[in-house]
Amino acid sequence: MPHPAITKDNVAVITGGASGIGFAAAIAFARAGMKVCIADVDETRLAEAATRLSSVTAATNVMTLAVDVSEIESVTELERAVRERFGGTDILMNNAGIQPGSTLFGEPDHWQRIIGVNMWGIINGSRIFAPSMIARGRCGLIINTGSKQGITTPPGDPAYNVSKAGVKAFTEALQHELRNSKDCHITAHLLIPGFVFTGLTAKGRTEKPAGAWTPEQTVDFMLARLEAGDFYILCPDNDVPRALDEKRMLWAAGDIIENRPPLSR
Ligand code: NAI
Repeated sequence: MPHPAITKDNVAVITGGASGIGFAAAIAFARAGMKVCIADVDETRLAEAATRLSSVTAATNVMTLAVDVSEIESVTELERAVRERFGGTDILMNNAGIQPGSTLFGEPDHWQRIIGVNMWGIINGSRIFAPSMIARGRCGLIINTGSKQGITTPPGDPAYNVSKAGVKAFTEALQHELRNSKDCHITAHLLIPGFVFTGLTAKGRTEKPAGAWTPEQTVDFMLARLEAGDFYILCPDNDVPRALDEKRMLWAAGDIIENRPPLSR
């Protein structure tokens, strides 16, 4: 049984959808019969992704838009354009992210860009889309891509860690808000991938390092956990549990914490 929001004719919007984990999610949603909008700042990759998507679904089911998630106007335009083309959004995957590296006393502009894309991108997406998704009155999902680095905060890339810690905190606030909203059938989920071999992590490597997941494996795991109703989708190929307290370690076991299952349509 697929998750009730992953239903033929529903609409999925994926930011950072032109490559890596986002593109693998776009393929999976398209294969499930959904209409898919991929939003990405990289127009060349967007065009390539649209061509590849056309091998799994009709061109009429696919839309692409050049979007910078750190810009609220750009995200507002994305929401409007999807509503105009497909009638609204049922699944929002706030996934766009960058990891150019950072140092604690590095340039403020550099910090602002990392936090702007990784954290503000997710806040912008959630705040702009959630009201219209709720008003649509259907069962829906908001999936925010965090990182174990937002929980374990290892030394070495402080701006990325801060941005992803913000994603976790914001997603938890969103979960509470949606849970307490009347007539709301939307749930919010935090995806915490482990080490996935993508453009973000390849750093010159052409071969997948041992132990790394592929984007497709990550998305398959995510879909299975959504089906199980998990709010925290903690991919098991990482060391997050060691950084969590006993209660939160239950996430790793796939237990459902305070879960209100999504309602059927
Ligand atoms: P990727 O580099 O393959 O994909 C990221 C996509 O986001 C790219 O297509 C890029 O053009 C797009 N993007 C960048 N800035 C943008 C902006 N301002 N507006 C719109 N789109 C923008 O990387 P990957 O690995 O698929 O990353 C996806 C998410 O997963 C990111 O949020 C990343 O932080 C997170 N993540 C990845 C892990 C990994 O091991 N690959 C581990 C943990 C988290």
